[in-house]
Formats: sequence, structure tokens, C-alpha cells
Amino acid sequence: AATVSRNTDGVVTVGGLEVTRLAEEFGTPAYFLDETDFRARCRAWSDAFGKDADVFYAGKAFLSRAIVRWLKEEGLNLDVCSGGELATALDAQMPAERIAFHGNNKSEREIRRAIEAGVGRIVLDSFQEIVRVAHIAQELGKRQKVQIRVTVGVEAHTHEFIATAHEDQKFGLALAGGQAAEAVRRALHLEGLELIGIHSHIGSQIFDMAGFEVSARRVVQLLAEVRDEHGVELPEIDLGGGLGIAYTSEDDPREPHEIAKALTEIVTRECEAANLRTPRISVEPGRAIVGPTAFTLYEVGTVKPLEGLRTYVSVDGGMSDNIRTALYDAEYSVALVSRTSEAAPMLSRVVGKHCESGDIVVKDAFLPADLAPGDLIAVPATGAYCRSMASNYNHALRPPVVAVADGAARVIVRRETEEDLLRLDVG
Ligand code: LLP
Repeated sequence: AATVSRNTDGVVTVGGLEVTRLAEEFGTPAYFLDETDFRARCRAWSDAFGKDADVFYAGKAFLSRAIVRWLKEEGLNLDVCSGGELATALDAQMPAERIAFHGNNKSEREIRRAIEAGVGRIVLDSFQEIVRVAHIAQELGKRQKVQIRVTVGVEAHTHEFIATAHEDQKFGLALAGGQAAEAVRRALHLEGLELIGIHSHIGSQIFDMAGFEVSARRVVQLLAEVRDEHGVELPEIDLGGGLGIAYTSEDDPREPHEIAKALTEIVTRECEAANLRTPRISVEPGRAIVGPTAFTLYEVGTVKPLEGLRTYVSVDGGMSDNIRTALYDAEYSVALVSRTSEAAPMLSRVVGKHCESGDIVVKDAFLPADLAPGDLIAVPATGAYCRSMASNYNHALRPPVVAVADGAARVIVRRETEEDLLRLDVG
């Protein structure tokens, strides 16, 4: 559904608009988000899972009012993990019952706001939080639907996973050693809570479905234990997000329908084996929905060949609009998009304008040897965790997000200005 192509002059177009014109109108750097593609991905996910499952878009990947409206229109639910994300969702009129609230240290204020608004579920992450949420719900005269987040002992990496007995990380309550079972025991006995299910999230940018298989099996095991101990069959399980996307041609992601089929089969099979009713499944993809829908457009400022090494191509953004390369050693691709070139490929490193040598956007890529200041280059697949993790380092102004659809472009998050920066500086 992506509407990106190249016209006869070699100029790339998105949604029918030439990037050269977009750069003139909106400036660079800027993120251009293909609304048609975003909506199509939402539909692909919800169609794949059907009416017996729920898809929650993970707002941490990228959230704005427009995104909330599109999700609402396409029938998706929303996972928020902070007061700020919750505020954005409510401001854009996402029905509260379609919101799931996550986080390992939600504040009392955030919890109160969520319960008052009537969020569909709060995902509990610690023993203290079980009591805290129950207490606030009771105070407000409500019974809050909750899930318990468990850690299943699966470490998922991009192309592999490791199943272990224990996990050493801050999220959730461990299945191993009985913490999760104890959490269920406590939650079932608190009046302010209605325990609707178990939640498990195993990692991000995952390609290997086997990690989900182990996770689902272990969660279903817990459901069976809960049934045996309490005589209750919890009606829902959430298998989290984490499905990978293609950043470079080496990545080969699964399609939503393959993912839905695999997950549904695993859960159904495990439940049959344990003689349990199959619970309602939910998932929380963030990256897989928004990641591929946007690219970052940069203008080349300087080109510096280093003899025998590579050419450093400096652009007008950098680690402030894409921290992922510096932080995770992430891989990206890049292309010249403002013209064609017959020049030989030259090994390049795309770097930003920040005062830091780790300020790398694309580690190694081939760009044409005649690349020159003023050329526009685009880095694809920057829809997830780029604008949402953008910073003001070196007092950079965070770039706008421009939505493109059907030959029209409009700003959905505007570019920051020096006034925005100085407004916060009240000293
Ligand atoms: N659900 C939960 C509970 C999560 O913690 C996450 C991501 C998701 C869903 C969505 O995962 P996704 O489908 O987007 O992979 N900043 C990192 C990714 C951090 C993911 C944190 N949790 C990155 O840029 O790669």
C-alpha cells in the first residue's frame, strides 16, 4: 500500500507529491508519513486477527492526535504507557474503553486519571501496583479491569531467541519461582480489581515466531494453574508487540495474517492440551504498523571523502531525530531522492550535525559519487521510535511530521521553533 515511487526525472514521489516540492514547502529535516499506508496496515492487522481478537497499536512507536483519529476510524485499540500518551489519546477522543494503560511505575495521578476516564484495562506490573490500583479504584467506587504482566523467560532478539528460566529486567512478574501466580492470587482477592487476563511482551524487532510460541505456552500453563487453584478461567491473554519490520533488504518480516494464524494456532493448541477454553487474544504492534509508513528527508550539507575509508555525508539532522543507530547500532538504508545519478556508488556514512562523533544516521550505505550539497536523501522506515524518541540535543529543533495522502500533504506535528525552546527556559 506504500505510495512511494520515482518519476522520470528520478525525483521520488510519495502519495503523488515530489519530495523536492515537499522539501520546499515543509523544509528539512522532516518525517513524511504515508497516511494511506498507515491505514492499510491498521486494516491488515485487524482483518488478520478478526473479530475474536483485539489489536492495540503501541503508541510509544509514534503518537499524535491524527494517529489517534486514524486508529479510531480503522477500528484499532491503543496501548499507552505514560500520562502524556494517555492525555493525547483522550484529547483526540479515543474511547477510553479501547485504551490499555502500561508501565512499570505509573504514578498515582496517572492511575487515577486512567480509572476516572474509564480505560479498558490497566496492565499491572508489580505487587505494589496491584494494591495501588485496587485502592484508587475502590476510592473512586469502581472495579477496574486489569491484566497482570508476566515475564516468561524468553529473550527475543531480531533473528533469534533464548528461552531461559529467569529474566533479569524491570518489567512484569516472573512465572518462574511463582511470583506471577502469587500476583494472580492477590489480584483475585481485591475488590477494586477485575482480573481479565495475563500479559506477556517478549521484546522488539523480532522475526522468529518461536519466541512467541514459548511465551504463549508458558502463559497458557499459568492459566491452567489459575483454573486448578481458583476455579477461574481468565478470559484474555495479550501476547504483546515486537514484530519486526524490514530496515534493510536483509530483513524479511512476516505478514500480519501469518502472524495472526501462527499465534492463534499456538494458543488454541495449548489450550486444548490443557483443557481450557481458548481465551480472547490481543496483540500490541507498534513498529510493524507505523515503522514502514514514514521516511526522513534530509538535505546534504557537506560531503567529505576520507581516503581509503569512506565518505562522510553530513545532513541537516542526526541523532536528535533518529537516535536508534547510536543507541542500538540499528541498520538503515538511504537513497538519493531529488534526481537520478549515473555516478559510481561510493561507500558512505550518513552523519548528523551534532557535536558528537557517534552522531551517525546510516552506518554504511552506497550513495552516488557525485553527491553534492543541496541533494536530498531519504532514510526509509523511520516511522517508529524516531520522532517519538527525538531530542533537543544541542538545542536542535525537532522536525515536523507531515502526513501525505491522495496528492495532499499536511503537517500533523509541526516543526519546533526557537521560541518553543526558549519558552521552557524561564531562568
Ligand atoms: N507492548 C509493550 C508492552 C511494549 O513494551 C512494547 C514496546 C510494545 C508493545 C510495542 O513493540 P513494537 O511492536 O513496537 O516492537 N525504542 C526501541 C523499541 C522499544 C520497544 C519497547 N516496548 C527501538 O527503537 O527499537
